[in-house]
Amino acid sequence: MTLWHGRFESSMANSLWELSESYPFDHVLYHHDIVGSRAHVQGLLAAGLLTSDEVRVLLGALDDVESEFDRGVFVRAGSDEDIHMAIERRVTELAGSTGAKLHTARSRNDQVATTVRLWVRDALVDVAERVLALAETLFAIGERDPDYYLPGYTHLQRAQPVLLAHHLGAHAWALTRDIDRLLETRRRLNVSPLGAGAVAGTSLPIDPGTTAALMGFDRAFANSMDAVSDRDFVAETLFDIALLGVHLSRMGEELVLWTSAEFGFATLGDAFTTGSSMLPQKKNSDVAELARAKTGRFIGNLTSLLVVLKGLPLAYNRDLQEDKEPLFDSVRNVTLVLDALRGTYQSMSFNSEVAARAADDPYLAAIDIAERLVETGVPFRDAHELVGAAVGESIRTGRPFPDVVAESPALAQFGGVFARHETLQSRRSRGASGPVAWPTQAETWHRVAADLHRRLREVGGRAEGQL
Ligand code: ARG
Repeated sequence: MTLWHGRFESSMANSLWELSESYPFDHVLYHHDIVGSRAHVQGLLAAGLLTSDEVRVLLGALDDVESEFDRGVFVRAGSDEDIHMAIERRVTELAGSTGAKLHTARSRNDQVATTVRLWVRDALVDVAERVLALAETLFAIGERDPDYYLPGYTHLQRAQPVLLAHHLGAHAWALTRDIDRLLETRRRLNVSPLGAGAVAGTSLPIDPGTTAALMGFDRAFANSMDAVSDRDFVAETLFDIALLGVHLSRMGEELVLWTSAEFGFATLGDAFTTGSSMLPQKKNSDVAELARAKTGRFIGNLTSLLVVLKGLPLAYNRDLQEDKEPLFDSVRNVTLVLDALRGTYQSMSFNSEVAARAADDPYLAAIDIAERLVETGVPFRDAHELVGAAVGESIRTGRPFPDVVAESPALAQFGGVFARHETLQSRRSRGASGPVAWPTQAETWHRVAADLHRRLREVGGRAEGQL
């Protein structure tokens, strides 16, 4: 029998039970649900609704239930619809009639909203820490081999040489925005819904501010209906992960290209590649492909939640139970991708000679000749046309571009741009890819990374205060 059977004459149809039970997926919330209950019990004490003896009994029972979950020995009863019911049922078994007071001035509606917020608050920090670890790995690889370079591409056509550090750094910078977004989502969600009741609050003298502070929330809700129906924080989390996933997917796609024979820029460690069941010579970059593919789920999970939310009348509706599977799925899978990609990059050897050969393609110095002309006072458009004509001649006649330049009266004096590393050296502008500009970027990076570490430390660990 469920805990809410009072007004019913017959029990629930099996088909409805199977549709509505959420324990199979929401039991992972047990710790955060118990944290919410601990705060709630303290709030009931402060409101004079429990004696300190009763509080001792309830907190003891909550500890016991948590330990049963931690040890993997908690036994679900057939009537446990979800994690909240399961915990309350067990507390009542352990604490007798005192247990039956646990749900005073509380509904599952404010309870589940509180529990999920607490869970997401920890998950955001955990994901953000892993993102920072990946970003730092990328940057460290660049700093380890500061001389490595490759072609920078636009439209996947070779454009200009870039340092490997600069290229990997580009991904790392995108990841810093993801971390910032995750932390901002955490900041916005840090409002306690506990005390909102089912929809309209309660006539009992509880103070939501007391429980909010105990759970480490910045404040309590202002409107009970908003408190129980708001899942913006889940949608934001799913968006943050979807956009993070887009970045990881692009990195995955790039690794697939780099490790192909056609590019040959990188080789992944054996521990991060797979073989073929049929073709003995194959070494496949499955990690990178899965990083690319998982993003389909992340985007799907965001979409599915937004569609669930869009038609809901105020306030709580059972539809909201459908927030959990997309949420858990995205958090779990992005964690897997982040850790596997980080290991993949650590295992990667960059084939610097192959990449340098591709980047030393003389056509990639064409813009440098045009820029030297500009320095002599030639308008850029005219310079572009002059150099473009030389490129065209080289392509038409099959003569090497440096030879065509050497024979051109207007351009011959700039033949120095073809010297090895010259185009990289001359790229000095702020944020440009070249050894001259690099130290400024690296310095900014280390400052930003230190700041992200500081922000993560501030919110790190389980932020449940005294619970
Ligand atoms: N398992 C439910 C959820 O995830 C808990 C809330 C149920 N509330 C209710 N009034 N039926 O949303």
